[in-house]
Amino acid sequence: MQKTAIVTGASYGLGEEMSHRLIEMGYKVYGVSRSKPKSPNKNLIWIQADLAKDIDIDKIPALVGEETIDILINNAGTDFPQKALQYTDADFDRMFTLNFKAYAKLAKLLFPKLSGGLLLNISSLSDRYPDQEFGLYCASKAAVNIFFEAMAAEEPSVKIVNILPSYVDTPLQHVLREGRDFDWDWCMKASDVADCIKQVIDVGEQIETGTRVIIEKNENENTPYNPEKLWVYAAQTKKMCKVR
Ligand SMILES: NC(=O)c1ccc[n+]([C@@H]2O[C@H](COP(=O)([O-])OP(=O)(O)OC[C@H]3O[C@@H](n4cnc5c(N)ncnc54)[C@H](OP(=O)(O)O)[C@@H]3O)[C@@H](O)[C@H]2O)c1
Repeated sequence: MQKTAIVTGASYGLGEEMSHRLIEMGYKVYGVSRSKPKSPNKNLIWIQADLAKDIDIDKIPALVGEETIDILINNAGTDFPQKALQYTDADFDRMFTLNFKAYAKLAKLLFPKLSGGLLLNISSLSDRYPDQEFGLYCASKAAVNIFFEAMAAEEPSVKIVNILPSYVDTPLQHVLREGRDFDWDWCMKASDVADCIKQVIDVGEQIETGTRVIIEKNENENTPYNPEKLWVYAAQTKKMCKVR
């Protein structure tokens, strides 16, 4: 039987590339987005939905119709600069509704169909680097990671893996960097992310549920992947010290 996958944000950017990679791997893909996928394919079934709207998310399980789903990739997301003290309620809702709530809601609705399958969340390496002007975005990605890792601990019937790409050359990145100084040499291609997704699927058992996979352009042993300034206070000895 043909395997099935659902990819959100499949019309362009990372989602488009991952959808086509899954099709090459033999999957039937349901691609969710507001606009039509840029490159149609007979194995890509478009579901038109605005994931910022509960009413649209609620209709997705019925539109998919399959009894079981092998892979769900929560990918559709947004990003825009906003200083930490200057956000509006609308900014907050816009960022967290799509980047976090939609991921959680779709996973909850589709979980019964995903038993034995794989849930991948496209998060970001931004979850750990406090980029100036991108606090809301970084926070939304950190929320995805910790929420789904708690879900992974509670629900072993579905393997949950959070994917943390560094910069990737996509339409989103072009909108963000317009008029700003940015070294495009740092960027990976969307196909690099699709390559990683294929490996995560192929290695199967080796990657356990609740894992985070960072995607970087180059291996760099010196990169501080946990760069927070961290202190610990020991209640019994009343001593406080810097950990890093
Ligand atoms: N590019 C990077 O450097 C980078 C790095 C790390 C993580 N990420 C993450 O990777 C994911 C994809 O990013 P990308 O760079 O591929 O973005 P992109 O180029 O802007 O593509 C976004 C995709 O999401 C869809 N989408 C946007 N808003 C939607 C909504 N309200 N409802 C349904 N679909 C919606 C878009 O389709 P429609 O407009 O047709 O709806 C499009 O298919 C995001 O979660 C992003 O945070 C990106």
